[in-house]
Amino acid sequence: MTRLNNAPIGFFDSGVGGVTVFEQVKKLLPYENYIYFGDTKNMPYGEKTPEQLLGFARGIFDFFQKKGVKAVVMACNTTSAVVYDRIKNDYPFEIYPIIQPVTRKIAGLPVKKIGVFATKATVNSHCYKTELQKNNPDIQVKEIACPGWVKIVENGEENTDAAYLSVKEKIEEMLEFSPEKIILGCTHYPYLLKVLTRFAPEEVFINPSIEFAHIIQKDLAGKNLLNPQSTEGNEEFYVSTNPEKFKKSASLFYEIKTLPRLALN
Ligand code: DGL
Repeated sequence: MTRLNNAPIGFFDSGVGGVTVFEQVKKLLPYENYIYFGDTKNMPYGEKTPEQLLGFARGIFDFFQKKGVKAVVMACNTTSAVVYDRIKNDYPFEIYPIIQPVTRKIAGLPVKKIGVFATKATVNSHCYKTELQKNNPDIQVKEIACPGWVKIVENGEENTDAAYLSVKEKIEEMLEFSPEKIILGCTHYPYLLKVLTRFAPEEVFINPSIEFAHIIQKDLAGKNLLNPQSTEGNEEFYVSTNPEKFKKSASLFYEIKTLPRLALN
């Protein structure tokens, strides 16, 4: 067993969204050690410029480097779309963006029309459309930005009228395109599945986190980087502000045992 196999895997997002990815990976790899960072002070990332996003990502990657991680999971579509290409060669650990590997798999589905709900910054980058059509030029893709959804989730307001109306507006726009599948292209959006499925059946929605977790597991195994399966791994959560709110909102997907610590604030 080397020191690297024992080293933690870092996860980050602007807030609780990345917990939807973390939860899936933890299920597959319970023996790993994990560090999760939610940049709650700077959310929503989808409303930020590429330069701002690059600055946040560098701060977080430096933090993870000091923690001695063996890999960092970009559990955030926005930074995967806007920042990954600019940062991918700058650190001595594995870096996993979410969009690029999952679109390879999704593009292989027997469908012609795919919708994508994502943040403004992700939609403006057209990363989903580019990556899907790179793998399957016949796929038609409609990307719709849903500003406001991230704050609804961070505030734990999924069951309010405001959430219902905002989802209704966007899904009605999307359904005019008659998509066979709709990708939830922001890791916060699975928190809204209960509302979304009032307008379309659950099997229409693709939560990329599920496939992403398998991709990460396979890649770490292939590189011989997994922690030997002996003892349960540990986990540390950090946020840049509001640890109580983070813990409460995340609980829809994952019960965090202790209050997250503050970092980079
Ligand atoms: N959850 C992130 C994503 O997947 C960021 C959302 C945001 O902060 O706008 O894009």
